[in-house]
Amino acid sequence: MSEETKGRLTMRVVAMPADTNPAGDIFGGWVLSQMDNAAGICAGQRAQSRVVTVSIDGMSFIRPVKVGDILGVYTYVESVGTTSMVINVEAWVRRERIGFREKVTEGKFRFVALDDDGLPCPVPPEDTLPEYVRESLAYGAGPG
Ligand SMILES: CC(C)(COP(=O)(O)OP(=O)(O)OC[C@H]1O[C@@H](n2cnc3c(N)ncnc32)[C@H](O)[C@@H]1OP(=O)(O)O)[C@@H](O)C(=O)NCCC(=O)NCCS
Repeated sequence: MSEETKGRLTMRVVAMPADTNPAGDIFGGWVLSQMDNAAGICAGQRAQSRVVTVSIDGMSFIRPVKVGDILGVYTYVESVGTTSMVINVEAWVRRERIGFREKVTEGKFRFVALDDDGLPCPVPPEDTLPEYVRESLAYGAGPG
């Protein structure tokens, strides 16, 4: 497959029988929740604070996910506003653990940084983040 993953591998998880719909495929809501989780990790690291999902744009379910697939979720910070961030998220699967890799979903998740009182707070400039945080956010494909 010529298409490459975009972003950094943030999470991997195996799709289990408990996550299926009556047709035997994995629920879209389960995949969405894995994407939200991974995007939340990315946004929380960028903001260095609590974050909440405020909107999801361009969500596409491209291919089904099957039991036994390894789901890999790739994220990167696409843009930063004042208190909000757009995280680009892609989910790819390895079919039955060893098969070929294909993209199953993509979307743009917007998060808002919150302070200790649960109010929106500014996302800090990137150059103020500790080096290890900038490294963990660096754009780069993992083994997926
Ligand atoms: C996120 C939340 C705190 C924002 O509150 P708010 O009063 O709208 O705050 P503000 O008007 O100051 O907006 C904060 C930022 O969010 C953005 N925003 C707010 N509502 C938005 C929406 N519906 N879509 C996209 N962006 C939105 C604003 O543009 C702003 O971005 P910026 O600071 O980068 O310019 C509030 O909407 C909330 O608590 N939502 C529920 C979040 C949640 O529980 N998520 C989990 C789902 S179960």
